[in-house]
Formats: sequence, C-alpha cells, structure tokens
Amino acid sequence: MASLTVRQLDDRLKKLLRLRAARNGRSVEDEVRTILRAAADEGAPGPLEASAPPREARSAAPPAVRRVLLIIGGGIAAYKSLDLIRRLKERGLAVRCILTKAAERFVTPLSAGAIVGERVFTDLFDPAHEFDVGHIRLAREPDLVVVAPATADLMAKLAGGHADDLATAVLLATTAKVLLAPAMNPRMWANKATQRNLAQLAADGFRFVGPNEGEMAEAGESGTGRMAEPLEIAAAIDKLLTLGHALDGVRVLVTSGPTYEPIDPVRYIANRSSGKQGHAIAAAAAAAGAEVTLVSGPVNLPDPPGVTVAHVESARDMLEAVERALPADVAIFAAAVADWRVANASAQKIKKAAGKAVPALAFAENPDILATIAHRKAQRPRLVIGFAAETENVAANARAKRAAKGCDWILANDVSPQTGIMGGDSNTVALITANGAESWPPQSKDDVAAMLIARIADALKADT
Ligand code: C5P
Repeated sequence: MASLTVRQLDDRLKKLLRLRAARNGRSVEDEVRTILRAAADEGAPGPLEASAPPREARSAAPPAVRRVLLIIGGGIAAYKSLDLIRRLKERGLAVRCILTKAAERFVTPLSAGAIVGERVFTDLFDPAHEFDVGHIRLAREPDLVVVAPATADLMAKLAGGHADDLATAVLLATTAKVLLAPAMNPRMWANKATQRNLAQLAADGFRFVGPNEGEMAEAGESGTGRMAEPLEIAAAIDKLLTLGHALDGVRVLVTSGPTYEPIDPVRYIANRSSGKQGHAIAAAAAAAGAEVTLVSGPVNLPDPPGVTVAHVESARDMLEAVERALPADVAIFAAAVADWRVANASAQKIKKAAGKAVPALAFAENPDILATIAHRKAQRPRLVIGFAAETENVAANARAKRAAKGCDWILANDVSPQTGIMGGDSNTVALITANGAESWPPQSKDDVAAMLIARIADALKADT
C-alpha cells in the first residue's frame, strides 16, 4: 500500500489541510485519514475546498469520537496491550500509542503501529514528531490516557512527577483522566515503595484497573501483579468515558461511614459501616464531573480524589457539616447514622472503682439528617436519596421509609450478616422511586455507585 507524507504535499494543500483539521479539531493526519475514508465510502470527495458540509448540515455535529492515548510500559504484559488496542478500536475509539524505551524491548513500534493504524510515538526529542504532533498535543488531545502495563518504575516516576521521556512528559502535561493497569512481579507490587507510590497516585486522582492475582510469567511465581486482561481494561475505559462529563457542573453532597457517639472522652458507641459504598458514590460523582462534598464519619479509607471532604464524628456534627455544604443539586445519604446518642455523656473519663455501680447510659434521639434535609423548604436539593439498610422485609420497609423520610429515592439493601454486605466489597440493592421498585444485580460497590450516578444524570436531564 502506498504511503503518504503530509510534508511532501504542496504548501497550498498543506495550508488547506491544516485549516480544515483545526476546524474539525483533528490532527492533520487524522484529517487526511477522514478524507480518504470518506472517499473510499462515497466515491471521490471533490476538491478540498468543497469538502465542508453544506450549511444546513453543519449544525448537526457528528458524534464525537472518543480519543484514547495508550502508553505501553516495559513489562512482559506489553504483548497484551496489542490486543487491548484491537479491543479499543472495535469500540470505535480513536487510539494513539506511545511506547516507552523499555516497552520497545517487548513489542516493536512496527507491530503496535500496524494495529493502531498510524505511527506510534517513542521519542521526546524526535524532531519529526514534534513538528507533526508534539508532546503537548499528545497530552491535550485525548479524552483518556491509559498506561498498560504500568510498571513499578513508571508508577514511581509518575508519583515523583518526573518527565524525562515522552511517556512521563505527556503524563505530566495532560489534564485528561489517567487509568493505570499495573503489572509487575508480586514482590515488587508488595514492596513498600510501590505501595507508597500507589497511595500517592490514588490521592492524585489516577484511576486503577488491576493488578490481578494469578500465575506470573516467571516460572513458579504467582501472586498479585498480573496485568488486568484486555477486556477488563476495555471495560474500565468504557466506564470512565461514559461517566465522563455526565454530571458536569452539578453539586453533589454525600454522607458516608458510621458515626461515633461519645460515652466519655475515650469511649464511644459506633456501628459496622465501612463507608465503602458512600465513598464509592462520592468518587463516581467526581469522576462524572460533579463538584462533590463528602461528609464522612470515621472510616479507614483514603479521601476520594477530587472530592472536598468534611471529617466528622457524631451525628450532630454530621448534620452541621451537611447544612454547611448546602446548596447542592443532589444529596445522597449513605452514612449509617446512629439513631441514638448517649444523653448523659461524661466530660471526664468514667472511672471504674470497686463497689461502684456500673454506669447507666441514658439515650437521646439523634437528628435524622436525611429527613431534615428532605423536608427543608429552602435549599432542598432537587434529588434527595437515602439508603435503607434492612435485615428483613427489605422492599416493604424501604417503601415506607421513602414516604416517612420525604426523600425522592431510596436504595434498599439487605444487610443481614449472611449477605456480607456490611464492610464487604459487593452490594445488592433495589432502587425505590415514586414509580416503583427496581432490583439491581449483585455487583461491586463501585459498580453500584457508577449505576447510581448514571441514573442521577438521566433524572437531572429529564427534569430540565
Ligand atoms: O432510619 P434509617 O436509619 O434506616 O434510615 C436510613 C437512611 O437515613 C440512610 O440514608 C441514612 O443515611 C439516613 N439517616 C440519617 N440520619 C439519621 C438516621 C438515618 O441521615 N439519624
């Protein structure tokens, strides 16, 4: 097949191509490809000047092609990334590819380029590439950057903000979301330095898929460190791209975790809530572009990236923080708020003494945060969502709760001990709205969060 170099075209054509590419928000190479594709589909496109759509057709914008920049790091899993490129192209995504120097030891620019359908990028100081595309453009163009495999070394460089090659320079310059698919030997993954870098990268807003557990390439080695399979990575990419901007400009308030109700300065009454579901919802809302405030009781979870977090202990503190966070468009109350607090909490540590009676705790009712916000006249969020954690008659109790609390939706789940939901990573919920109940399949708490955010985005759109 003949190859075409844009630089060899005459100046007038080059200028026209550049103008047309800029108007369509494409690179010159992409523009040429689009013209050739159109020519193949519909016959000759006619002169370049005449190829703009007719005036009446111009307002109907073509569906935006999602652009993914895939950075292949230097690990044995790099061969799977070639399959990943195919999976992404099958989904109609526009893929560009960077190979690190180490990656070139595992896959060649030629093989990756053949699957991508254009040259791949390898060198920060390649004058031809800087003229044509440039590392800043590579960083600016994509809707999502994916690093697969993300090696221990690449993760360390990213956590430290290094930019000494094309991959790291682009990763430092991009404002797009970045998804990392780590892959390394299990001992390298477990190493304190890698775990430190992982925590830093998660706090900086990087997303992760994998690593998985299983056999390693090295004979006899197994453990956590295998790169996620291409289809898993493609699914994570789909999710990030679809959620994308669904809640741009929407203010979301989330409560999460348990509350601690003091008995005295050192003792408290708590519950088994881990905060995993509420934190996942806050993270998913932020990933969808929302401005999120998370009011969290004491949990063992990192603050989700890109979220404003108010840390509180008691139910009364939680209500105060929630009211401070208003106005909001959507409020989701996932916290397991204690129904009662100790009315006679002691200001000093209660002492045990021989012959002294055991302390008698008196209880007072806590404010119901969900009901308080749902019944507000002023600054009531447009959509108020509560949870119903029940151990019996889940659906019936949830319906009654929706009415009693005055909220719009209830997510109901069965938290009987045998379900493992309390503190676990998966959840089975039913969504109760004014229109009835809808059972969702058993899925991870992250997937419940993503599904809820998609439903919220739909509801807000239908409501405007
Ligand atoms: O009444 P129950 O605790 O079952 O209600 C659960 C829902 O109400 C959850 O959404 C929870 O966050 C919220 N709630 C609250 N304040 C309370 C008790 C529950 O916001 N004091």
